[in-house]
Order: sequence, then C-alpha cells, then structure tokens
Amino acid sequence: EELKIFAPATVANLSCGFDVLGCCLENVGDEMIIRKNELNTIRITKILGQELPMETEMNVAGVSAMALLQQLKSSQGFDIEITKNIKAGSGIGSSAASSAGVVFAINKLLDEPFTPHQLIPFAMEGERLASGNPHADNVAPALLGGFTLVKSYEPLEVLSLPSLPELRVVVLHPLIELKTKDSRAVIRQQVSLKSAISQWGNLGALVSALYEKDYDLFGRSLVDEIVEPVRSILIPFFHELKQIALEKGALGFGISGSGPSVYAMCRGEESAEKVKIGLQEFYQQKAIDFDLHLSKIN
Ligand code: HSE
Repeated sequence: EELKIFAPATVANLSCGFDVLGCCLENVGDEMIIRKNELNTIRITKILGQELPMETEMNVAGVSAMALLQQLKSSQGFDIEITKNIKAGSGIGSSAASSAGVVFAINKLLDEPFTPHQLIPFAMEGERLASGNPHADNVAPALLGGFTLVKSYEPLEVLSLPSLPELRVVVLHPLIELKTKDSRAVIRQQVSLKSAISQWGNLGALVSALYEKDYDLFGRSLVDEIVEPVRSILIPFFHELKQIALEKGALGFGISGSGPSVYAMCRGEESAEKVKIGLQEFYQQKAIDFDLHLSKIN
C-alpha cells in the first residue's frame, strides 16, 4: 500500500507575523512516496534532488513520522521516498514540506486517526530538528492550506484564515544557503514597545484585510519593523529589490521565512508577471544566480 503526494512550499512570517503567519503555495513543492513495509521500522529509502541525511533520526521526515507513530503506539513500518524540488535553506519551507508531507501521507495510509490540525505537532518535530525551534508557521499552512495563524504555541492553537482569490506570490531565491538556525541567531531577543505596537497593529490589519477582501490594506500591512531590519542584511540587495517590486506594482514585499528568499504579494497574474520580470532583470544585471517562482496561494 503506497501513496504519492505533493508536499507544498510555504511562505512563513509574511512580514508582520513572525513565527505565527504563513501561507501555502499552489505549484511549488516536493513529491513524496510513502509505502507501508513489513519491517516495523521507518526507513528513508530514497532522496532525489538534494544531499540530505538518510538516517531516520537525522531526517526531518523520519522524526516527524516517528512522532506520529509513537503517539499511536503503532509498530507499522514505512518506507519514505522524497524528490526534493525545494532547496534546503531557501526560506520557503523545505523542511516543513518534508515534515508535513510525511505525516499527511502516513495518516491517510492509516485511515486518518488524526485531523489535519492534530498532525501539526508531529510535523513540528521535523522543524525542531531542522532549526532547533519547533515553529509551526510553515508546517501549519503546508497541512491546512491557504493562510494560517498560530494563535498560541502553548497550548498549540492554529487558525485557518480566508485568502484573497486574486493574490499571486512571486518568490525570488538568491542561490545562497541560509540556515534557519543562523538567521534566527541574528534576531534580537528584546523588542521596544514602539515596534511591538507597530507589529500588532499591522498583524491585526492584515487579518482584517483577508476577511474584508481588501487588497490595499493587505499590502499596507505587510510591514515588519522587528525582524526584517536585521535579517535583510543577509540578503543581497534586499532594499533595491523591495523598491523595484513596489514600483512594479506589488502590494507588499518582504523576507520569505528566514530567507534568503524574498516574496512579493501581487494582485492578479499580470501584475505578478511584471514584478517577476523586474526582480529577474535586476539580479541578472548584478550577476546573482537565483530561482524564481510565481504561484497562487492554495
Ligand atoms: N518563522 C521562522 C523564522 C520560519 O523566520 O525563523 C523559518 O522558515
């Protein structure tokens, strides 16, 4: 018995929602095949496209699968094959795709003992292994789709938010690897009350914009005064890219997850194409290698 799945990429933080907001990309992601075995053990049998650990305990999919099966006290074994299209350390939820994908598939193969919400803590174990911190802002949208908000971590409470149908996201990935662990280490642990006020004002407004279908307010809320000023230093020409994206008509622009990818939210395909070309031409001029994606949110 086996299942072949698409494990989507995700954009976390979305500027004002550090560690709490995220959204799921429709057409960027990995492929995974999960198969029951008769060995009572979880094996990573194949990884294509990336050099990643094959030992179950060292692999984010392996530890997420183990967490789920331990909870069920099940000794069922599984073989896991992963075709990685999302590059590790890109900032679009590579580890989350593997972690969320495997628990989604195993749950299906076991006739769904868990709801999608209940799968989130298992997939967070993969994030703990990858970054030292079990954040849910990538695994939640990968499992639930659309936009998600982590209302609280202890206890874990995740909400699904509505999406805006014309939204398109352009993701530009400068081909340098930035480990989440490292880009978390640069963040200051204290925030000023002034920055906190700005951040929660924007986060509240962004949620309102999704419910009110207000594209303009959505874009104006994609602001981050706390993490972006520090992390942007690690991204080549961040400020120039932001200026180009906004000039070309993007609603908002920021760092995707922990970077180095950046994202631009756009209204409609045509606008997103213009932004995409603007960003692409700029990096070509600067001779920086990159990947570029344009996706719906789903
Ligand atoms: N919220 C996490 C961070 C996402 O920004 O560190 C990592 O992809």
